[in-house]
Amino acid sequence: MQKKLKLGVLASGSGTNLQSILESSSSGKIDAEVKIVISDVPTAGALERAKAFNVPVTVRERSSYPSKQAFEAAIISDLKDHCVELVCLAGYMRIIGKEFLAAFPNRVINIHPALLPSFPGLDAQEQALDYGVKVAGCTVHFVDEKTDHGPIILQATVPVLEDDTVESLRQRILKEEHRLYSETIQLFASKRLRLEGRRVRIL
Ligand code: GAR
Repeated sequence: MQKKLKLGVLASGSGTNLQSILESSSSGKIDAEVKIVISDVPTAGALERAKAFNVPVTVRERSSYPSKQAFEAAIISDLKDHCVELVCLAGYMRIIGKEFLAAFPNRVINIHPALLPSFPGLDAQEQALDYGVKVAGCTVHFVDEKTDHGPIILQATVPVLEDDTVESLRQRILKEEHRLYSETIQLFASKRLRLEGRRVRIL
């Protein structure tokens, strides 16, 4: 049996992406296991979801540290303590610093609810609807120092319907996010991703 890839998940919100990763892991759909969930928001739903799967959780609030560096140093040591090999940002609403990326080179991935490079940042679904696009979607990418910017691993599209609201579009995209994140983790776990500049080759 293949050795399981050790994941650390960072989440600030409800944690439905985390939930789908936990379910994929426990059903054996991915050769990976979540070793720790870290949140910068003490009330994040993601924490309860992790506990329900008996996964250790840690809360690290930015306001408890004198600098972003000190805040991230604490998170890095949490991840290292749990021997994390791949860091998954799942609705983690902060930009990752240089030292963090250096501690996990090409080992931090993020999911974003838009077809990047369109609509990075906050409220991506609303941005897409306001712009009037006919096709929306989501992107999983390697993280670099810019917001929603690093090399793209996988993308999935969904149609924008005539009567869509931000919420209905959000839900349609979210369903694809859940599928795409596990698919990406499995590609990483089976060493099928090769980074060539900005291009990610799938072997
Ligand atoms: C997801 O839609 C994720 O793509 C988005 O936050 C939501 C978290 O939902 N992330 C970003 O916008 C990052 N720029 P969840 O907590 O239910 O997984």
